[in-house]
Amino acid sequence: MKVLSVASEIYPLVKTGGLADVAGALPLALAGLGIEMKTLIPGYPAVMQALGDVTLSLHFDDLLGEPARILSAQVAGLDLLVLECPALFDRPGGPYLDVHGYDHDDNWRRFAALSLAGARIASGELPGWQPDLVHVHDWQTGLVPAYLRFFDGPKIPSVMTIHNIAFQGNFGPDVFPHLGLPQHAFDIEGVEYYGQVGYLKAGIQTAWAVTTVSPSYAEEILTPEFGMGLEGLLNRRVGDLHGIVNGIDVNVWNPQTDRDIPQRFSGAELKARRQNKRAVEAEFGLVDDDAPLFCVISRLTWQKGIDLIAQAADDLVAMDAKLAVLGSGDAQLVYALQAAANRHPGRIGIKVAYNEPLSHLMQAGSDAILIPSRFEPCGLTQLYGLRYGCVPVVSRTGGLNDTVVDANPAALAAKAATGISFGPVTLDHYKRALRRAVRLYSDTKTWVQIQKQGMKSDVSWEKSAALYAELYSSLLPKGSH
Ligand code: ADP
Ligand code: GLC
Repeated sequence: MKVLSVASEIYPLVKTGGLADVAGALPLALAGLGIEMKTLIPGYPAVMQALGDVTLSLHFDDLLGEPARILSAQVAGLDLLVLECPALFDRPGGPYLDVHGYDHDDNWRRFAALSLAGARIASGELPGWQPDLVHVHDWQTGLVPAYLRFFDGPKIPSVMTIHNIAFQGNFGPDVFPHLGLPQHAFDIEGVEYYGQVGYLKAGIQTAWAVTTVSPSYAEEILTPEFGMGLEGLLNRRVGDLHGIVNGIDVNVWNPQTDRDIPQRFSGAELKARRQNKRAVEAEFGLVDDDAPLFCVISRLTWQKGIDLIAQAADDLVAMDAKLAVLGSGDAQLVYALQAAANRHPGRIGIKVAYNEPLSHLMQAGSDAILIPSRFEPCGLTQLYGLRYGCVPVVSRTGGLNDTVVDANPAALAAKAATGISFGPVTLDHYKRALRRAVRLYSDTKTWVQIQKQGMKSDVSWEKSAALYAELYSSLLPKGSH
């Protein structure tokens, strides 16, 4: 089976969050199941620089008004189709934001062009490669199934994955005439969304199947509290909605082979983590003692409950714990965390940065990772934590709920516990979870049991890749694959 994946970021070339990890790991996992996946991504500067040998595969004279090309390349085992369109993608800043942190003001056009290129490839324009199905991710690629629906081309099945419904890609109606869609697509059955053009809405409306990244989140987004306005449409499509939990690339994240950590280890040699803990403490200017070291590796936003982390910082220190924070995001949250670090030198440290190797070290050396998210479609850092013996302390929501087994008495007795979970997400409940973590940590035997059980959890892509493969097959004409 041949599948075209379309994504706006992909590890290891360009990453702002978990979407990149998923887009980069899923094709490798599917390859083992006989699925040939090529991924179409924009030719941002970071991508163009990482390409080695390329083949010019397709030329568009006019892609929403711009000349553009598709370059084929192989990078890190991935089959890439790169949309080279300098007018849209060759510029400073990140994939979505300019150097000042504001959205690129033509994002509607940049990602419509990516989607149009995807739809044209899906329709058979790439010489020698006709995909059987197209799989798209988040609002940036939501127009792919819409173009396929409203064009007179072959009817290729499409899957739309929602990684985070908080980002919807809604733009004013004035952009519609520039998208190259027929007038009747500006309709409730098409791309129209409360008078605007909704890219994610369009994808959910027109894709053959819709998935999201955990079973719990698939339930949650059917409610007004989590659906962020799209719950009505999702309820109408509930028969086509699937929750498939993310896995992680267990080769990139392997404590026995990880090159970013001073001391590699397995579940049988947890004492070896001590050296990594010292390295984290040194990195963050924290004292080296036996107190538990908690870490945060995150976008610093309300979604992730970072305000609770700042508010409970004094209590955390009073409980005799330490905290290392790596992240970037909202200025107010950065300020609050920095103030906490200033109040507690040696006990709380923060680095405002994006640093992939340091994130590996923190998972390998911290005792626990704190993830008090208000909503979390899947979450990957708790999966890395499980794999590295860094016990996840999480809120009971979305994928966090589906991947962490709370250390309640029954789970402890059954030796099934892998972390600590709490809910609802309030300061009180979060502080109680911290207290529970500190208490459990002081009981070394129990703590090690939780660490070991976590390290045994299957966080690989194996099961979930099979679920995607099954879903793809169900959408193809019977007997074709
Ligand atoms: P989200 O995609 O909502 O941000 P996920 O938990 O799914 O959340 O994925 C976040 C990814 O980004 C993980 O791979 C995590 O390790 C990484 N990450 C987040 N912040 C940083 C940072 N400051 N430095 C390095 N990696 C980070
Ligand atoms: C989003 C979500 C996160 C998820 C990631 C990958 O960024 O916020 O929960 O793990 O996508 O699916």
